[in-house]
Amino acid sequence: MALIASIKAREILDSRGIPTLEGKLTTSDGIEVYAQIPSGESLGKHEGVELRDKDPKRYVGMGVLQAKGIINEAIAPKLLGVDTKSFAEIDQWLVKADGTKYYSKLGVNSLMLVSQLVFKANAAERKLPLYEYVNEYYNATFNQKVSLSHIPTPIYNMINGGKHGTKNLDFQEFHIVPSSSTPFAQTLEFAVSCYTGLKDLFQNRNADVSVSEEGGFTPSLFTNTEAFEIIKEVLVSKKIKIGVDIFAGVDCAPAYYYNNKQYAIKDQGASLNSKEYIDFIVNLVGKYNMIILEDPLQEDDMKGWKEITQQVGKQAYIVADDFVAGNMERLNVAIEEQACNAVLVKFNQVGTLSEMFAFVHQLRVNNMKILVSHRLGETTDATIADIAVGLQADFIKFGSPARGERIAKYNRLLEIETQLATI
Ligand code: PGA
Ligand code: ZN
Repeated sequence: MALIASIKAREILDSRGIPTLEGKLTTSDGIEVYAQIPSGESLGKHEGVELRDKDPKRYVGMGVLQAKGIINEAIAPKLLGVDTKSFAEIDQWLVKADGTKYYSKLGVNSLMLVSQLVFKANAAERKLPLYEYVNEYYNATFNQKVSLSHIPTPIYNMINGGKHGTKNLDFQEFHIVPSSSTPFAQTLEFAVSCYTGLKDLFQNRNADVSVSEEGGFTPSLFTNTEAFEIIKEVLVSKKIKIGVDIFAGVDCAPAYYYNNKQYAIKDQGASLNSKEYIDFIVNLVGKYNMIILEDPLQEDDMKGWKEITQQVGKQAYIVADDFVAGNMERLNVAIEEQACNAVLVKFNQVGTLSEMFAFVHQLRVNNMKILVSHRLGETTDATIADIAVGLQADFIKFGSPARGERIAKYNRLLEIETQLATI
């Protein structure tokens, strides 16, 4: 039996230099576990909110001392001596203690930190790798028989625009997606080869090789189409078979270019209405062998979502990120309306881990593809790699094969792949 002996939160920095929370939980028999919380940049209107100090004198209001205080002074004392096996009850208690729709009282950052620490302590007590414990817990909780058979297919970020970029591209992320039959280690090699190939191409053309926070290049291109073309050029030069070994992906994140019910993308000059814009996107899907189409439409354009899923849902995964934003109510509406066929799960968006598992389960029983995603603001904590494998997600999105906080997750997947081969 592992009783909670202490929970301590502290303020650290994420990969952007913005404060976030780290926590440490110690049990009565000396187990110590840690957790760090990521944070988004292009926030969906409907996602759970983080608790930030809003004190302009510290880190332009982004400090998390208040959240740290809530954990250390209000939550931790109540959990001392509690058995970590009461994980589900602790999560329920946290959600109840918050009591708001978007967790604005305690913050998704505080809730996820405590939830994760308790869960990790249970895995450590069982002496199981985290991914194995996630799998066992998920199967037992939801009466499932999901076996640990694969590493989720990675979606690698190559070029960034929108809110994640620094220049003039509208779409937020341009990806390459290897065939799901390729072993993970080999996909990583593909991705590095493409990534360095892009860098060489930009350098040879005297173009900028700056990168975004997620590691994708932020070249000064004019249209979104040019970004797809450049990635294609690199793949062709590497003799990688497009449409067989590698596919394209995109996260449009249209909040950046959507205004007054119009989509203003530079490719078309003028602002487009939903129908004209959908025609443009549908054409891209066919032209570039696109398999991942994330947030093609604005988050409240339900009619557009239904239309695009009807048109290209058989060829590509129409992925809801901001459209669903980790919110079960919104997910149920999306399922009912058949408005997408895949959903992004962001670790810090749903509240507690219990809610995240229930959310993933709802996706699974409704035949929706499951994508586990990092955030723009990350830490070197690789927990999402274990969660994604344990839940046997279909895809993972951890950024470019560059930058320490992204690489930490890929390195963990390499390790898990080796371990799975020996099971
Ligand atoms: P975020 O971006 O972490 O800034 O939300 C990731 C995404 O939109 O997929
Ligand atoms: Zn997104």
